[in-house]
Amino acid sequence: MTTTILVCDQAGVRTITMNRANKKNALTHEMYAAMADAILGAEANPNTQVIILSGTKECFTAGNDLGDFLGTPPDLEAQDNPPVARFMVALLEAKKPVIAAIEGPAVGIGVTLLLHCDFAYAGKGAYLQAPFVNLALPPEYASTLMLPFAVGPKRATEILMLGEKITAKAAAEMGLITAVTDTGAALKLATQTANKLAAKAPTALRLTKQLLRAGPESPAQRMARENVLFGTRLQSAEFKESVAAFFEKRNPDYSKCED
Ligand code: COA
Repeated sequence: MTTTILVCDQAGVRTITMNRANKKNALTHEMYAAMADAILGAEANPNTQVIILSGTKECFTAGNDLGDFLGTPPDLEAQDNPPVARFMVALLEAKKPVIAAIEGPAVGIGVTLLLHCDFAYAGKGAYLQAPFVNLALPPEYASTLMLPFAVGPKRATEILMLGEKITAKAAAEMGLITAVTDTGAALKLATQTANKLAAKAPTALRLTKQLLRAGPESPAQRMARENVLFGTRLQSAEFKESVAAFFEKRNPDYSKCED
């Protein structure tokens, strides 16, 4: 079992920590495999409601291990998915909310994976950098599609073509992360948000994530899709528990709701 990825389960929250500090959490094949397993395990576990992705105190991740890229480059089109592709798909398809907690540098895939997280908090001293072109590589992880959508085409072009450092403050201003915290406090805020999410109705959260991440469609099409889900959920045990809790002046408890 690898120690370069740590997994901790507490109160419905699975925290996955990249833990290779001496190499700035550069991600190896083994680390991608362990992170994919940890995400898929969280998805399969009914007791887990939220996933946090974190690095160590001084670094989120320096991105892909450049030695691995040179020595044993992954074949991203291979049928038997290499670990990096398994990780990318596991995060991309995660139905449960995922929160990133960033301190120090987040480089390469450390930036592009944020596009697939639902919340991202960064300590004041953190920075993001997507130096793909500086390494003579094109960008990955659907970032050329999702980054323009997240921050606008001009900013996305600047980030992906120039590959310069973006401070946590600038990243928050452009909507690339949720909020900036004091240095060292990103994981604490991520955990607070995770605890709030873990107390909410799991199916309602899952459907909200699904709608927020659905591809483009007309407002009328989206409203029709929302109406189907909304109508169905008015019949759910989660909704009945929410309303019962309101009238009984207590917090809802969704742990016994089957749906
Ligand atoms: N792959 C492999 N090893 C890496 C690495 C990476 N992506 N990033 C850092 N390391 C290693 C360094 O080689 C060094 O190893 P050593 O102590 O055996 O010499 C160690 O981690 C510390 O890195 P260092 O560069 O000294 O740390 P720093 O604090 O000065 O800088 C970074 C941190 C992240 C800014 C810098 O390491 C960096 O730019 N890394 C490469 C980022 C990158 O291009 N990633 C790929 C994106 S596609």
